[in-house]
Amino acid sequence: MRDKIIEIILNNQDEFTSGEELSKRLGISRAGIWKHIKALKEQGYNIESVNKKGYKLIEKPGDLLTYKNICHELNTKFIGNKIIHFDTIDSTNDYAKEIASATNEGTVVISEEQTKGKGRLSRHWHSKSNEGIWMSIVLKPNIMPYKAPFITLIAGASISSALNNLGVKTLIKWPNDIILNNKKISGILTELSAEIERVNHIVLGIGINVKTMDFSQEISDIATSLYKENYKISRVDIVRNIFTEFENLYLDYINNNSKDKTLDICRKYSAIIGKDIYILQGDDKELVKCLDINEDGNLVVEKQDKTIREIMSGEVSIRGVKGYV
Ligand code: BTN
Repeated sequence: MRDKIIEIILNNQDEFTSGEELSKRLGISRAGIWKHIKALKEQGYNIESVNKKGYKLIEKPGDLLTYKNICHELNTKFIGNKIIHFDTIDSTNDYAKEIASATNEGTVVISEEQTKGKGRLSRHWHSKSNEGIWMSIVLKPNIMPYKAPFITLIAGASISSALNNLGVKTLIKWPNDIILNNKKISGILTELSAEIERVNHIVLGIGINVKTMDFSQEISDIATSLYKENYKISRVDIVRNIFTEFENLYLDYINNNSKDKTLDICRKYSAIIGKDIYILQGDDKELVKCLDINEDGNLVVEKQDKTIREIMSGEVSIRGVKGYV
């Protein structure tokens, strides 16, 4: 009986299925349906119940972003060896920073919901329950602090590659946004703890909008999600793919001092190279032509007076001439 309930609400995953319909189709009372739903929830099914609307399956137990679900078929050396999973937390980046010195490199903090998700430039990052991937990876590279910003590019390249592996054609808006159909689906917030000549740790925060269908008015023109663009992909598969792609590019950088693969990906999938863009810095807005990403990972642009300027990540925000990209 429970399998049948799951099958019906799974086949109608975008909408609610009323208790009445379930009761008619399965020939049991609505109270009986409710008891089965309760038992399914106890088994870990995330089912939304709304009065007068019915039931909607949000996620099967296998889809929660727990270590048990993710480690299966995960072949990384250290990224994701330890995953700390929360149902809700203020910010995975803040928690990761608290535990960073006492935990191993590669530890991941992941939460189904964030109540104070943080974006770049002190913005709020919308992180509703089960709607996305909200995670932070603790890194302890033996590098000089000035080399740390490149890790944001490695993250962008690995998110884009992971999604491309899963059939989603994304672009990278240097330095830290991932774009799908001209809107943002993912952002990266890299936080560094360092001394003058040494990195203590880096917390790499990654947010990906997976199932969000309604964005608040302030961001609805610039943000989208995988589900909204009709890519219904398991969050667990995305996370596994990111861990694998990220670890390869990261080890290449840290151990071999090689940036080539990351730069190739960032250039190949760039949303802005070759385009006119606005560079925003404080109240200033400057129209430039984006030429390239150089060997240091900096953006090379041509100004209106034809001089060339090199921009470091973190310095600025970027907008397209016709909109977000
Ligand atoms: C941005 O595009 O402005 C960066 C967004 C980064 C959001 C992620 S979600 C997981 C991690 N925890 C946070 O509080 N922020 C990052």
